[in-house]
Amino acid sequence: MSEALDNTAGPLTTESGAPVSSNNQSEAAGVGGPLLIQDQVLLEKLAHFNRERIPERVVHARGAGAYGTFTVTADVSKYTRAAFLSGVGKETETFLRFSTVAGNLGSPDAVRDPRGFALKFYTEEGNYDLVGNNTPVFFIRDTIKFPDFIHTQKRDPYTGSQEPDNVWDFWGLSPESTHQVTWLFGDRGIPASYRNMDGFGSHTYQWVNEAGEVFWVKYHFKTDQGIKCLTQAEADKLAGEDPDSHQRDLRESIERGDYPSWTVYVQVMPEAEAANYRFNPFDLTKVWPQGDYPKIEIGKLELNRNPDNVFAEVEQSIFSPAHFVPGIGPSPDKMLQGRLFSYGDAHRYRVGVNGDHLPVNQPKATTARNGNRDGFHYDGRHGGQKNYEPNSFGGPYETGQPLWKPIEVSGQTGEWETPKHADDNDFVQAGNLYRLMSDDEKERLITNLADSISLVSRDDIVDRAISNFANADEDFGKRLTAAVSERRQK
Ligand code: HEM
Repeated sequence: MSEALDNTAGPLTTESGAPVSSNNQSEAAGVGGPLLIQDQVLLEKLAHFNRERIPERVVHARGAGAYGTFTVTADVSKYTRAAFLSGVGKETETFLRFSTVAGNLGSPDAVRDPRGFALKFYTEEGNYDLVGNNTPVFFIRDTIKFPDFIHTQKRDPYTGSQEPDNVWDFWGLSPESTHQVTWLFGDRGIPASYRNMDGFGSHTYQWVNEAGEVFWVKYHFKTDQGIKCLTQAEADKLAGEDPDSHQRDLRESIERGDYPSWTVYVQVMPEAEAANYRFNPFDLTKVWPQGDYPKIEIGKLELNRNPDNVFAEVEQSIFSPAHFVPGIGPSPDKMLQGRLFSYGDAHRYRVGVNGDHLPVNQPKATTARNGNRDGFHYDGRHGGQKNYEPNSFGGPYETGQPLWKPIEVSGQTGEWETPKHADDNDFVQAGNLYRLMSDDEKERLITNLADSISLVSRDDIVDRAISNFANADEDFGKRLTAAVSERRQK
């Protein structure tokens, strides 16, 4: 936040600082007469009011945020040279924004939807953003499907409502979504609060150490509050009674000093093991089973400060998967690659080309120094410094040291499918997840899925949706078929 304005008693003023004589009666042409254009207080007030909103996020519009501290608890310098991860006990300031995905701004918190877990580390080498979810996997494995996918989850252009036909048509036609959909309709699909859920980086990222050795990593944030979830019935009630339930819970817990925290782990895969791993390690619809790559604890994240102003710090906060620091970089995951473009583009549209200069977004432990200038709301921070490089007048210069290591590529350019490894298919991990559930959990999963699928109007869409679950596990398919036909006959 920038420094708060003086709020001691004194005259109201216009935006240009002149005292305001009346803030309760507009200026009229005579008693009972029409209003005057010379009433600049009225005109300015109405005009400013009309411009209070900025475009909402096209996804994850609904959210809440808080500041916190990340503390390193284990030495990971053999895996990455990132300075903020070097040295046990090292602390870095953070800002975390939680969100739902499909709902518009103002939609209720207690809904069945993944939760965003967007974390900004204000490191001494620049801001590192980890823009993840509360789920380790995702519905699709190629960026080019994302706009179509989101169109099916948001409101239909004709009816103006979310349509079960669209939702299940997309999932049925995209069998790679089966794992994430099984997760979403299971017990963890509606967290009781933002504090009672885990976070995941989800994608595979590159870590590189001082010696230039590469490791592929996946991040896990395990809640110290314990996982707590809502049933569909509990969520439906809460969403109606208190649409702001998650946001309120987060703010109030921090206000009373009950700071939520997460223990942070990584799974680490040496570079050479990626090529022959049984699953494609860059496929976002798959996890790396922990029997193959166990979790290593690396730190603690605590949230301990509420924003002073929700619009300035939460609505205008921007997070980008492309915000890396030395020692951390992208993997060739086709979802992550697309996200490297998409977020910065969204920010320039939604918050403006100088959005990175806003207090919540600007680096705190280092300074942004480059030749980018001007644009809407530029604050003149560079004074008369040269705006080109190289120059003969001093100032910032390029380092010649890439943040991460290049990766090997081969073959021709083309619209290639994500390569399949030995154990890869669209259903194997969804089936494993189903078989891990207790019978009670399976029953609730089938009920949640059947309640939703039975709202679909067309048999072919219903059949295709169910066949994906049947491909994951025969028992899953049979029970779901029975539950859906029972509901559709009523
Ligand atoms: C290739 C697929 C994806 C595309 C194109 C995409 C695009 C976007 C866009 C445009 C926004 C709005 C950004 C803004 O206005 O500030 C957004 C928000 C977000 N996305 Fe994605 N997304 C994708 C996949 C994912 C995945 C896989 C995850 C999690 C693993 C994710 C997590 C988030 C989160 C947490 C936010 C909210 C960030 C905030 O709190 O400001 N997205 N996404």
